[in-house]
Amino acid sequence: MEQRVLILDFGGQYDQLIARRVREHGVYCEVWPCTADIESIRAFHPIGLIFTGGPGSVYAPDAPDADKGVFSLGIPVLGICYGCQLMAHRLGGLVTPAQSDTAREYGKTETRFDTACALFRGLPEDSVTWMSHGDYMAKVPDGFRVIARSDACPNAAIADEKRRFYGVQFHPEVDHTEYGKEMLRNFLFDVCGASGDWTMENFRARAVRELREKIGEGRVLLALSGGVDSSVCAALLSEAVGRRLTCVFVDHGLLRLNEGDEVEAAFSERELNFLRVDAASRFLRRLSGVEEPERKRKIIGEEFIRVFEEESRKLGTVDYLAQGTIYPDVIESGAGNAAVIKSHHNVGGLPDHVSFREIIEPLRLLFKDEVRQLGRELGLTESMVSRQPFPGPGLAIRVIGEVTEEKLATLRSADAIFREEMARCGLTHAADQYFAVLTNMRSVGVMGDGRSYDHAVALRAVATKDFMTADWVRLPYDLLDRVSVRIVNEVPGVNRVLYDITSKPPSTVEYE
Ligand code: XMP
Repeated sequence: MEQRVLILDFGGQYDQLIARRVREHGVYCEVWPCTADIESIRAFHPIGLIFTGGPGSVYAPDAPDADKGVFSLGIPVLGICYGCQLMAHRLGGLVTPAQSDTAREYGKTETRFDTACALFRGLPEDSVTWMSHGDYMAKVPDGFRVIARSDACPNAAIADEKRRFYGVQFHPEVDHTEYGKEMLRNFLFDVCGASGDWTMENFRARAVRELREKIGEGRVLLALSGGVDSSVCAALLSEAVGRRLTCVFVDHGLLRLNEGDEVEAAFSERELNFLRVDAASRFLRRLSGVEEPERKRKIIGEEFIRVFEEESRKLGTVDYLAQGTIYPDVIESGAGNAAVIKSHHNVGGLPDHVSFREIIEPLRLLFKDEVRQLGRELGLTESMVSRQPFPGPGLAIRVIGEVTEEKLATLRSADAIFREEMARCGLTHAADQYFAVLTNMRSVGVMGDGRSYDHAVALRAVATKDFMTADWVRLPYDLLDRVSVRIVNEVPGVNRVLYDITSKPPSTVEYE
């Protein structure tokens, strides 16, 4: 079994980030709700525990708490912010609300460290940390000593080196803490004794073994969208169970240029049953004359279910329905260590009455960048694994108003040019999502010596962490110029190109 660290989640903003940082050091970890019972924690065999931050005060009536047995496991503990205060509070220290604004700290803070302590070994004595706390430790518990100070906070970090308990008031997981990565590395390697040998190669081997054990002679069905998660899920499952996997790829005709063929090419040579269902004409028929965005979305969702249902009925009984749920969904749903499967995330539009015994989610413990890495490991092409998010309703919500075959063709060409030029300038990582939209505006132009009255294409490029909020990307004018010239010259029916400079909110990423 690989070495694992357990992160107990007290509801802080940066919990996922802690997990990602730990895994970046090659140490496998999981995030569990702080209420996890001690038997489960013990059975997980962690080599160390990390308590996350949290929004509240340890004195709040409903303050998140952990089983008191966590301090008797004989393994190292690192408490971060609330996690540090909880540890101090539970082990006999005194935590109080900051009496004045001076003891309350938010943001970058000059901090002085005791570099003789294992947590800070090898680091400079003075550096900047990121603090965000209202309460502070007025008295450290017996057995602990102070290992870092700031002006406002004389007890910025504490340690009981005998029991290997460490607490920091600041957040080592955020980039603003200058040596945060090194501090986590020290905790993992020097304190917990981690060897950092968790790799995607190991993950792949283990996942394949476990999937084989679980699925046995059973049959698995996967709705493959061509997105990163479902594609990687398909590749992993095909390696594990080969022909006992059937992938149904519903091509609704609303995909980007060549996308359907790329998906097919990526999977047609693998040992699996790949079914590409060409449903373009039935989707277009149902969308004919429909302009209202929500109605369009609904029709696409329903039609998707219908096609998927028809195909699965042809297959007869399947034992497992696989889906590409990934770790952020699991953590956000609070499912942490629970076996409960929150099917709403990815099943979304999947039918209730396709009969199967169980849902399996082979990627449920991976972050997005790890999913991409696994995809590379499994031999998927770079263009597949680094694909940007693409909405389920596809180009239908990027053609404003009624969707027609002709409009889709126009949008596909314009979008392909934009993506091509972004790649040519090496800017594909400058935006988290970028695409073209066919507006329903037509305007007058002059082309050659004649008057034109054609469509306007809008370009959108956004930077975002979570897609809940997004900022428009300041793309270089030269690039925008080249894209505009090419679209107007190469795409019939377009005489104007606009660049969208609205953020989310007040706009959304997509137009419908
Ligand atoms: P909005 O437009 O809501 O988009 O700001 C945020 C992110 O969600 C994607 N999106 C969807 N993804 N099905 C999906 O799978 C959908 O119906 C859908 N609508 C929007 C959008 O592309 C962006 O990444």
